[in-house]
Amino acid sequence: MCGIVGYIGFEDVKEIILQGLEKLEYRGYDSAGIAVLHDNEVYVCKEKGRIADLRQHIDKSVTGNIGIGHTRWATHGTPNQINSHPHQSSSKRFTLVHNGIIENEEELRQKYLSDTEFQSDTDTEVIVQLIEKFVNEGEEVELAIRHTMSRLSGSYALAIIDKQDMNTLYAAKNKTPLLAGKGEGFNMLASDAMAMINHTNLFYEIEDKEFLKITKDDIEIYTIYGNKVNRQPYKADIDASDTEKGPYAHYMMKEIEEQPFVIRKIMSEYSNKCGNMNISTEILQDIRNCDKIYIIACGTSYHAGLVGKQFFEKIAHKPAEVIIASEFIYNMPLITEKPLFMFVTQSGETADCRAVLVKVKEMGYKTLTLTNVKGSTLSREADHTLLLYAGPEIAVASTKAYTAQITVLAILAAMVDNKIGIDVFKELSKIAYIMETLCNDREKYKKLAEEYLLKTRNCFYIGRSMDYFLCLEAALKLKEISYIQTEGFAAGELKHGTIALIEKDTPVIAVITQENINLNTRSNIKEVKARGAKTMVISMRRISQEKDNIVVDDAHELLSPLAAIIPVQYLAYYAALLRGCDIDKPRNLAKSVTVE
Ligand code: F6R
Repeated sequence: MCGIVGYIGFEDVKEIILQGLEKLEYRGYDSAGIAVLHDNEVYVCKEKGRIADLRQHIDKSVTGNIGIGHTRWATHGTPNQINSHPHQSSSKRFTLVHNGIIENEEELRQKYLSDTEFQSDTDTEVIVQLIEKFVNEGEEVELAIRHTMSRLSGSYALAIIDKQDMNTLYAAKNKTPLLAGKGEGFNMLASDAMAMINHTNLFYEIEDKEFLKITKDDIEIYTIYGNKVNRQPYKADIDASDTEKGPYAHYMMKEIEEQPFVIRKIMSEYSNKCGNMNISTEILQDIRNCDKIYIIACGTSYHAGLVGKQFFEKIAHKPAEVIIASEFIYNMPLITEKPLFMFVTQSGETADCRAVLVKVKEMGYKTLTLTNVKGSTLSREADHTLLLYAGPEIAVASTKAYTAQITVLAILAAMVDNKIGIDVFKELSKIAYIMETLCNDREKYKKLAEEYLLKTRNCFYIGRSMDYFLCLEAALKLKEISYIQTEGFAAGELKHGTIALIEKDTPVIAVITQENINLNTRSNIKEVKARGAKTMVISMRRISQEKDNIVVDDAHELLSPLAAIIPVQYLAYYAALLRGCDIDKPRNLAKSVTVE
């Protein structure tokens, strides 16, 4: 959700910034822009649409060694050229890009900027105008930026250039991700490491309410009060090639096919020298000592959390509850005496999860984050972190991170207390193998997508028990990338109202991996068929029937929905492909949702 790139150094910045912005495309955006400082002049180019559109409009003759760029996902003001970033102060001395939302924008306009003529409808313009106002009143630039920060309420990551200073790039952060990258003779800034990894793998984490002064040789970090912070950079273990598509047409397909590898990688990361499961005893002790686990997550991660609850309750006999982060904050359930809060989040930056983390920390509760991004906000701020080791997930629709979350949750539950004696590693190895065989059936999924999903307006996934959670995820995948209105339903619930929506040829896809509900779900299939539905069945081999469309090899019942994720991800992929949708960057969506 919005992306920032900044560079100061010895090379011409245009390509560095544009390529950095391309690496951030996966976060979601609807317009993009760039500013280059050259000969004490600032060149700004911004456009609605894709970075490819922006490229067409950039004046190639402009060169400079300091610049900032931005991809915008509209919050305040429609996505158009004027509202795109960068924004400039009235005299054009200051140019700024911003991620986040300023909540007291209106109050600041009235209190400080009643005489200012604004160019855009954005909250961002208030920031750049305030900086100029304080400078015009006689403050040094640094102080003016820090004073502006202290008046802002809300979230921001800022990169700022001053046309009168060819040697400095300024930045600031609060509640929105921002990293500084250390180079040889250059330095960089970006919303995440992916935008800088082709240039450096040495990064500084930036804390909330910190201010940065960056020259080509130095990165200085200060608190909002101007006190210097001494922090060491860390080395990121991302490989630049992890962020490339390779031979795949889309990142989503690459990431679907990486899932067996991800499961094996997680097993090796969480095993000891003898090949047995291994997780820090501190984490295990905290979970064993709690009386209930509260799993907090959003979207796909919430669906992984629903499966995780089953693992904790069925494998470890530990009570667990799963709550959507944005609901928890306004409608907190009764909390037990010794809770543990577990945040499941691919990005580690989701603002709704972070709001809960801040709240429960204030209440003094233990916290653990499961995330794919080392050094992310939720990882830094929780008591403990377990990494997902899925590698960078670029497609907006989450696939391999979902599998990684469920894999880590299964290992964790079994390590907390394995009451049922399940050999999780053995079962996960089996799932990885089954996934590989399922990936070979691409053509079949494509044909089914063509037959069932090419023309339809809506679709239903139905399942019971563990399969119901898979149906929720399957429905989210299909709707978010193909725009087919899809619902995941507990199969038994259909007849309590929703069956009214079934008409001739409505696709209903049933998932049946659990023996005890096999016959019940099959009778629900008959009910919808009798009302004209076009049904498809995905089943487990041992309970499959002759006419089932997709049969998944047998696995342990607790983990079998994990194997069945492959066909439903592919059905979504091919439905979107056949309908001509932008698979990796679906409309209106952002990969990292950094505003509440
Ligand atoms: C859907 C998807 C989203 C995310 C959700 C939470 O494919 O990716 O629903 O799962 O925005 O994001 P994280 O896991 O980064 O907290």
